[in-house]
Amino acid sequence: MKINDVLALADELAGFGRTPADSCVAHDASEPVKKALATINCDTGDLLLAKQLGCDTVIVHHPLAGSARREFHRVLQRMVELMVEHHVSGERAINATERLRERCRFNDHASDWDHLVSGARLLGLNLMNAHLAPDEIGRQVMVKALEGLGEHEPVSAVAERLRQIPELAHEFNDFIEVPDDPMRQCGRIAVMHAGGTNGGADVAQALFEAGIGTVIYIHLSGDDAIRLRERAEAGGLGGVLVTGHFATDAIGMNAYLDAVEKKGVEVVRHGGLGTFAH
Ligand SMILES: [Fe+2]
Ligand SMILES: [Fe+2]
Repeated sequence: MKINDVLALADELAGFGRTPADSCVAHDASEPVKKALATINCDTGDLLLAKQLGCDTVIVHHPLAGSARREFHRVLQRMVELMVEHHVSGERAINATERLRERCRFNDHASDWDHLVSGARLLGLNLMNAHLAPDEIGRQVMVKALEGLGEHEPVSAVAERLRQIPELAHEFNDFIEVPDDPMRQCGRIAVMHAGGTNGGADVAQALFEAGIGTVIYIHLSGDDAIRLRERAEAGGLGGVLVTGHFATDAIGMNAYLDAVEKKGVEVVRHGGLGTFAH
């Protein structure tokens, strides 16, 4: 396989017609992909680890290199689309994501997008980022796990369903509920994964206004959790279930890497991907 084909496979599995802005071949070493180190995060030490293990390629989930790093903020458009699918108006969705988009745009602008690319070039390794597509694969797995769950079920039943997914069942992967009330009726559920990042309290609030009872995020900042908890204490309806960052990222990445393996590539799972087994 060529590195471009490995990236295209992620898009194909997610049902995307083109590669999202947060994913790219960051360095094409013109070597066929035979053995790849796959990891959720990556630094130059991981590139050396790949080299030492005889890999020709590094597949990174988080958008850390090249155009995926520079252009990450553009995929927040997908968060807007997910909100609209959950009956938030387009205008409200854009408004609720505005601060986040601006923060991400400036972070991207200030980022060191060349560091890993340079390392891969010096070591002669193929390097690629696959972010939104594996997250979309993971989102679809989560949505399927919740199929048929009634709106009157408690949040604990939502958690129980999601724990059927092997990665999320890992003994060290905690779910956090905001507010901490497992018996609260879950209502309509919005799985807000594969929108670039979590939408924080602002996006959750917009979803609650649209009648969503439970927003599922894979991570959430403590500051946003405090805001949401205070809102619930003041009588606001709706809550968030946070499923755990790396275990949840591993769902889509593991499924994608299974497909890469089926194409005849040897995959070394590192940085969470081996730990949160499937
Ligand atoms: Fe992810
Ligand atoms: Fe992530």
